[in-house]
Amino acid sequence: WIEPVLAVLTGYLLGSIPFGLLLTRLTGGGDIRSIGSGNIGATNVLRTGNKAVAALTLLLDIGKGAVAVLLANQFSEAWGILAGMGAFLGHLYPVWLRFDGGKGVATLLGIVTAINPILGAVFAVVWIGSLVIWRFSSLGGMLAAMSTPITAVFLGKYTLIPMFIGFALLVLWKHRSNIERLMAGEEPKVGASSKT
Ligand code: G3P
Repeated sequence: WIEPVLAVLTGYLLGSIPFGLLLTRLTGGGDIRSIGSGNIGATNVLRTGNKAVAALTLLLDIGKGAVAVLLANQFSEAWGILAGMGAFLGHLYPVWLRFDGGKGVATLLGIVTAINPILGAVFAVVWIGSLVIWRFSSLGGMLAAMSTPITAVFLGKYTLIPMFIGFALLVLWKHRSNIERLMAGEEPKVGASSKT
């Protein structure tokens, strides 16, 4: 039983690295949690005005999810899934930040891409597509997360569906303040300078 626990823990440790917080602090941007939405993700890092740090945050948050799955995949596919679960929970609930972490979209993209590149491609198309159309990062992220169980149906990956539904529900839960702002017409669009 120790191996599955190790897979989840390794994934959790990777996922819990708060790149947005660390990079913003290291580049003199202060505490990202006191800026904009207060989230540690790339969208909020972009609100500091530092596009390079935001892009790096995005890449590293995607990367940590993918690396967690790919590392554990070396041992077995089931371990890869467990490590992916760990990484997702690590990003959302990092012990280092008193379990108050990110909203999971970028890390989920990395996880699903490593599990199945088609899942990742659909996720990316939905995310970027809705971002281009509506310019709300949160809306795009939520739609992309919700696309994964649907894509899994088309791919015949039925065993993954409950996990993807769980991931999507957690992404929605983490976006509850965004949902309120979207409904109130107060969600800032990407590229807008307004703070929330
Ligand atoms: O991935 C996070 C994004 O969906 C929303 O970020 O800062 O606008 O709450 P934010």
